[in-house]
Amino acid sequence: MTMQHIAIIGSRGALGSDLMKVLRDGWQVTGFDLPDLDVTRLDQVRLQLETARPDVVINTAAYNLVREAESNRDAAFAVNETGAANVATVAANLGAVCVHYGTDYVFDGERNHPYAETHATRPLNVYGASKLAGEKRVLAAAPRNLVMRTTGLYGETPTLTKGMNFVQIVWQMARGKQEISLSARETCSPTWTLELARQTRVLLEAGASGLFHAVQEGACSWREFAQAILDISGNNVVVKPKPAGDDAGLARPRYTALANARLHALGLNRMSHWRTALEKFLNSEGGRRLRERTIG
Ligand SMILES: NC(=O)c1ccc[n+]([C@@H]2O[C@H](COP(=O)([O-])OP(=O)(O)OC[C@H]3O[C@@H](n4cnc5c(N)ncnc54)[C@H](OP(=O)(O)O)[C@@H]3O)[C@@H](O)[C@H]2O)c1
Repeated sequence: MTMQHIAIIGSRGALGSDLMKVLRDGWQVTGFDLPDLDVTRLDQVRLQLETARPDVVINTAAYNLVREAESNRDAAFAVNETGAANVATVAANLGAVCVHYGTDYVFDGERNHPYAETHATRPLNVYGASKLAGEKRVLAAAPRNLVMRTTGLYGETPTLTKGMNFVQIVWQMARGKQEISLSARETCSPTWTLELARQTRVLLEAGASGLFHAVQEGACSWREFAQAILDISGNNVVVKPKPAGDDAGLARPRYTALANARLHALGLNRMSHWRTALEKFLNSEGGRRLRERTIG
């Protein structure tokens, strides 16, 4: 493949940071983030991308605060729908491919088996609805565009607005305890940002387009995931199932494991099992650095 220029929007975020690392090797990469590029501002998106003239625009910017989105509908749609459409429109005008990320929360969680790309969507909350609207706008903007739906991201760089990722929360909860409790109600496919970044590269190199699910293989509850984090970290704390409580009026889908059906069908799946990826992350330099920063 010839040398390409890739623009990464949201380059300081959880996924954006790993995309910067993975794509720099071999390609020219330019990172954009707030305040220089706000995806909700079409003028800024135009100015920055028309100056950079990339061949590929990867947009990781998102309004990710699921609970807050319920009372901030306009803000969620501004970033997740209008912002996504702004980036896709400007990219299409430049003849650049637009890569975007979707969420498991587009599904209602009524199934007990992983959702494939062909399954019907029915978001239960504002975050899910805004993300679904965004992925539709990106796919409609140009046939070469790529949307990758993913779930439960974790990695070396925590999301700034959330403060800590799930791995850090579990380490902190377990400090000085013999047991902790977490909900076993929701099942998903927790995904390491570095593997997702590498999978993105594989799809770009293959010239793939359209909708893909891209998550670690397999599925687990957040309780099981937390237990694995502690076991692999050499911590003896037991994670007990917490009785499912009321989530303060927020509807969350119960089962949102995804199947990488199209990746498999095209022979392009590079995502390992969730536990293998978690082990690799926790034993990596990045995992060690995160632990040091979190609990010393
Ligand atoms: N995190 C998950 O568990 C999860 C699950 C499913 C899908 N996804 C999707 O995966 C993608 C990447 O998520 P992530 O966890 O890497 O997100 P993230 O850590 O929040 O990173 C997003 C980046 O975009 C920036 N940003 C926010 N609003 C922006 C705006 N209006 N204009 C430009 N940049 C803006 C953020 O800056 P600030 O930090 O300064 O706000 C941050 O640097 C998103 O599409 C997300 O919806 C994530």
